[in-house]
Amino acid sequence: MKIYFATENLGKLREVEAILKKILPQCELFSVHDLTPKEKENYIAEEIGVTYAQNALIKAQSLAHALSMPATSFIHPWILDDAKTASMPATSFIHPWILAEDSGFEVLSLNGEPGVYSARFAPNDKERIQKVLQLLQGKPRRARFVACVTLLENGKNPIYFFGRKEGIVAEVPRGKDGFGYDPIFIPEGASKTWGEVTKEEKNVDSHRSRAFRLAAEYILSSMSQHSL
Ligand code: IMP
Repeated sequence: MKIYFATENLGKLREVEAILKKILPQCELFSVHDLTPKEKENYIAEEIGVTYAQNALIKAQSLAHALSMPATSFIHPWILDDAKTASMPATSFIHPWILAEDSGFEVLSLNGEPGVYSARFAPNDKERIQKVLQLLQGKPRRARFVACVTLLENGKNPIYFFGRKEGIVAEVPRGKDGFGYDPIFIPEGASKTWGEVTKEEKNVDSHRSRAFRLAAEYILSSMSQHSL
């Protein structure tokens, strides 16, 4: 089974591959890097949405467009003289699933900022972190990461899966691992920031792994229904 993930970020690709393979061991994962140069020209995924879901859909639809996915769902055989073979087996899917994701960091006492604008809150990670810490002075420090994954089947009918991870904002950045806001995020029940733990430790139960696991479970159940 082919799954396309609308990302150019190789780190994210590996992370998501590990999550998906646990639930869908047979899946082959492709990304924007696997497009032909011509297909790549058509992948224009501008994050102009005002919600995670809109941005995820923009990326997913752009990839569907780049792959020129036609509207048909199955290779027939619609074998009409035999009730059993007339059902459409899972292996008859000809089009890949498309996954896309958008995520952000939300601080409760900043009204959910930076949220969907997390990547553009300041020019770089260091300045973004400093900005959050400055705005938060003297305020409650509850925060969470949110990931929204959208799934297209045959380039259509988006389904959304959300994953959230609650925690607090640390007083100062800690740790050299991770990216983005990881050095100032302490998940609920933990003492270390996500900058102080390995990627593997973080991914056991991150916002992203929660959302992708839901998507993978959906694909699995959908495939088994088609093979009934
Ligand atoms: P995108 O989903 O790749 O567009 O990411 C949006 C932004 O949210 C990133 O650039 C980071 O600033 C922030 N972000 C999302 N997930 C994480 C995470 O797991 N750790 C740290 N920052 C994150």
